[in-house]
Amino acid sequence: MLDPDRYDDVAETFDRYSERTGFPITECLMEMTQVNCGQHVLDVACGSGIVTRRAVAIVGETGVAVGIDLSPGQIRVAKQKAQETGASSEDFIVMDAMNLTFPANRFDVVVAQFPHFPSRQRCIGEMVRVLKPGGRFAICNGGGGASTWPLKNAPTPANIPKGGVVDSLFRSCLEAHFPQLIARPAGNAPAKTTHPQVSLRNELEQAGLDEIALWSYAYTSPFYAAEEAFEWESLRMSLYRMRHAELDPEKIAAFKADYLDGAQEKLNLHGVLGLTTGALFGTGAKP
Ligand SMILES: C[S@@+](CC[C@H](N)C(=O)[O-])C[C@H]1O[C@@H](n2cnc3c(N)ncnc32)[C@H](O)[C@@H]1O
Repeated sequence: MLDPDRYDDVAETFDRYSERTGFPITECLMEMTQVNCGQHVLDVACGSGIVTRRAVAIVGETGVAVGIDLSPGQIRVAKQKAQETGASSEDFIVMDAMNLTFPANRFDVVVAQFPHFPSRQRCIGEMVRVLKPGGRFAICNGGGGASTWPLKNAPTPANIPKGGVVDSLFRSCLEAHFPQLIARPAGNAPAKTTHPQVSLRNELEQAGLDEIALWSYAYTSPFYAAEEAFEWESLRMSLYRMRHAELDPEKIAAFKADYLDGAQEKLNLHGVLGLTTGALFGTGAKP
């Protein structure tokens, strides 16, 4: 089975950074779908299992949380981490979101956090098929632009001055050194649309969901080393990660040096760097 986004080799590092930077997004998904003790939860495109692990903790011993992903490397890390925390590693399965092998109406809650789907319509349709009538659905992509979810379990905001936030630095260095990368989309990462809120609402309506609502949430995580900020940006920016092997190593070195110079300057000035993880959520219920 092919992992079109080449997540296999980066699963461990991806897990470390995405848990550290994205935990409030996971918390939003749990609150929006009202995950509760004893429920059956499915996490689609679970990656290294960040959301599934949180759901396992909430549903407890009487519930079940299952994570599926196309990448065997991500599932291997998810299983390893489950074992370390005493959870069941059998609940992580290599599976294509295009063809979920579960029966219809199986789960109380179905979620997907930053999924990369080959066909969003087909995969969202599959997610809704396996959801019980009355069950709750939530999906999130990168972005924002809707009302902020009133997160009950919100983290204390890190004290990061505006000048220390380096959200646009990686992309602007990439544009300067590798303009050809920016011009082409990469893998299954969702394409940028002009009206993401309208597209998301349409997707959920077409899948037959009721009670559709859109929400946003953003969290800026602190970084105390420019190298670390570079490492996380290199991983999360799919179009760079996936084409890295095609690029001239000397040009990569120049690009990296440029980024590190810019980031270090900010770090010296502010004592901290900030990188924001923002999400646009779509929620609904199966009639
Ligand atoms: C950005 S990662 C998000 C992972 C995880 N949900 C998280 O928040 O950490 C996107 C995931 O989509 C998975 N993916 C891509 N195509 C898929 C497919 N057809 N079926 C299931 N998962 C897929 C990738 O393997 C990758 O783990």
